[in-house]
Amino acid sequence: MARSFESELPQARILVLDFGSQYTQLIARRVREAGVYSAIYPFDVSLDAIFQFQPSGVILSGGPATVTEKFTARVAPEVLKMGVPVLGICYGMQTMVAQLGGKVENALVHEYGHTPIQLIGNCELFANATQKHGGHDASAMDVWMSHGDRVIELPDGFERLAESAASPYAAVGDAKRQLYGLQFHPEVTHTVGGTNILQGFLRDICHCSTNWQTDSIIESQIDIIRETVGQDRVILALSGGVDSSVCAALIYRAIGDQLTSIFVDTGLLRLHEAKSVQQSMSNEFGMDINVVDAQDRFFDALEGVADPESKRKIIGRTFIDIFQEEAQKLSGVKWLAQGTIYPDVIESAGTSTEKAKVIKSHHNVGGLPETMQLELLEPLRELFKDEVREVGRELGLSPEIVNRHPFPGPGLGVRILGEVKKEYAGMLRLADAIFLEELVRNDLYYEASQAFAVFLPIKSVGVVGDNRAYDYVISLRAVQTQDFMTARCMRIPFEVLEAIATRIANEVPGISRVVYDVSSKPPATIEWE
Ligand code: XMP
Repeated sequence: MARSFESELPQARILVLDFGSQYTQLIARRVREAGVYSAIYPFDVSLDAIFQFQPSGVILSGGPATVTEKFTARVAPEVLKMGVPVLGICYGMQTMVAQLGGKVENALVHEYGHTPIQLIGNCELFANATQKHGGHDASAMDVWMSHGDRVIELPDGFERLAESAASPYAAVGDAKRQLYGLQFHPEVTHTVGGTNILQGFLRDICHCSTNWQTDSIIESQIDIIRETVGQDRVILALSGGVDSSVCAALIYRAIGDQLTSIFVDTGLLRLHEAKSVQQSMSNEFGMDINVVDAQDRFFDALEGVADPESKRKIIGRTFIDIFQEEAQKLSGVKWLAQGTIYPDVIESAGTSTEKAKVIKSHHNVGGLPETMQLELLEPLRELFKDEVREVGRELGLSPEIVNRHPFPGPGLGVRILGEVKKEYAGMLRLADAIFLEELVRNDLYYEASQAFAVFLPIKSVGVVGDNRAYDYVISLRAVQTQDFMTARCMRIPFEVLEAIATRIANEVPGISRVVYDVSSKPPATIEWE
């Protein structure tokens, strides 16, 4: 059998079955941080896939539904009889309890946020959590709850392991069958000692060895890439973002010049982007990059188009056309490398019942067409973003690349509202660079998850020297977020904002007014278009 990433996985593996909780990815990340490989599958994945994965333990995530309704999600009964430990969290615990004969009701008092619980008995699940975090009373814990339903009756064989004021069964377990349930969320940092509870589950209950590390990933990936690709050529669309850069560096380490990286200058990039990507990847790394200057082609294609969705589609299509043309100039290319990472894989899998609404059609340089008839090489598809960053650091990529904020595929195209013009892109690029430079100078860059400037094609009256100005407006946006699904605006000190506004108005011809966007997501999105 050919080696694949799956065949290289460590023996200890935890399967997280996803019932739609906003915290599911966090559970899998916490497990990996504890040194155990984990994967997320939708709750209704086939039994074959579950058995094939050979989990050392299963975690059932929380979810938005209620088990008090008949047709909501359930775990396959076989999972509870597989003979491997199962930990149900929130909805995961409720469905496990209800399916095994216990009772769940819609509680009169809902618990959201910090909640004190009292442990009962000495379950090994809590052994480390209470020793380190118990304070004076070793059986008291402060946990994070987020639920409306509660368990009111246990199935046979289960014991109560903890209670809170509103939840008589805040934690439950059946030591014989190795089934455990937590009404609260151990994966969020607000649960003091939560990580220790998960570690207790992994080490003491599932008996997992804890040797999952990014350096072992690099070595095995390099071997797999070499074996998979042989003497063939590989192409990759390099965007300068973290994922495609780490992907390129890893593949280059494995097969050297058999890799051709193509960087398309769309004219919608940040200041000096093309140059700095080239510098860091080719000068520091020795990697050759084909830089294609396609600025005019993008501006021509976007002329007269104001609708955000149409702009996104045009940018995506133009990109693909150019990439295909470049690929055709090379001979013997068999593989297309993409910086797909694990959250992309999870998001595109979804559950068989899910119907997602398209808010924005994302253009990723990764999303290249099947018509190219190339085989896909995706060495990062098992990794979370922080693991990708770790791999990048270990490969020797510069901190500027590894730690930079995300930048959307359509680039400044979705940060110039309405019609995109070269002249607007020029002003925006300068304003954006000043904003980021000042954040770095004030040690605020890494406090923001993403920060950028937006060009508003409206004119306002100003006064410059003794003259009347009638110029465009720049909006600054900086957000803090864990997962980019929800975000809040960053509270940048006012003096810093004021200094940035002054610099932009003084240094960017055509701009006389700067505003700060204080919206959260939702209702706003992070990008303006
Ligand atoms: P929104 O605006 O949807 O953005 O709140 C969430 C995150 O996604 C990024 N984004 C994109 N990334 N291609 C990408 O690769 C896209 O088309 C795209 N649109 C938005 C955005 O910058 C933020 O980090």
